[in-house]
Amino acid sequence: MTYSPLLKQEKLFTAGVVRNSSVDILPPSDVMETLTGVSEVQTVILDPWYNKGVGGVRDDYHDCLAQIIRAACRISQHVFVWGFPEILAYQIPLIPSEFSLVSWLTWYYKNCPSVIRGWRSAQNTCLHLASKDAAIYPENFLNKEQINRWNSGKMRFIPGPPSVIEAPLNIGFVGRQEQTGHPAQKPLAVIEPLVLMSTREQDVVLDPMCGSGTTGEVCLRLNRNAIMCDESEDYLSITKARMDAYQEIKHAV
Ligand SMILES: C[S@@+](CC[C@H](N)C(=O)[O-])C[C@H]1O[C@@H](n2cnc3c(N)ncnc32)[C@H](O)[C@@H]1O
Repeated sequence: MTYSPLLKQEKLFTAGVVRNSSVDILPPSDVMETLTGVSEVQTVILDPWYNKGVGGVRDDYHDCLAQIIRAACRISQHVFVWGFPEILAYQIPLIPSEFSLVSWLTWYYKNCPSVIRGWRSAQNTCLHLASKDAAIYPENFLNKEQINRWNSGKMRFIPGPPSVIEAPLNIGFVGRQEQTGHPAQKPLAVIEPLVLMSTREQDVVLDPMCGSGTTGEVCLRLNRNAIMCDESEDYLSITKARMDAYQEIKHAV
């Protein structure tokens, strides 16, 4: 299965094809190369290194991230940017003029094992940016009963999901089944709301710094398509193995 949006890049392999949705994994590339090689997608999820701890610190991080965000805004309607709040705060004034901040999302986790003296880290930020005419889909969060009430006109407004996502870090025995060994893997539970709010079934989501492939697994589960890339060949192998494993489970059911 191939994607029409892919222009310059040759596919490495198509990893998962489940119920009409698929994940394309590109050859290892720098994020800017990926963002300029893909023509159009519905949503881009950016989960870069955070400029502290693992991955190192770059003096030009803010400029570099702003450039990545601008490139993502050129090819999609929705852009989600992960990071720590004190780092992402610098990006707010730099949001491209044709985009706006839809929401400052917080991921709240209580189980960080940090032993640093002082405040223990318990939050990550995700900026939801969207073009002025981008559609959002809060109805994707409704359960069957709510959908029936909405369809029969008995609901006056759609109750949106909270902008604080509470989910534990996948460490130790927590989230064991999800863990892949990637040092900065996000739980499925924190990526799923981003995909639900910004896409419909069969839309395409791009994750150019995909790490262990969390976005890809979420997309397969929700019947969306995904394009995944990372600069690391090792992490792309983890992503491929993860998509294959999900596909096997799905077909066995
Ligand atoms: C925070 S992790 C992403 C984790 C991912 N969301 C997950 O759940 O597994 C950041 C990823 O960005 C990748 N990365 C860092 N700099 C990059 C660059 N310039 N181009 C492409 N990927 C990059 C790293 O290899 C790493 O896998």
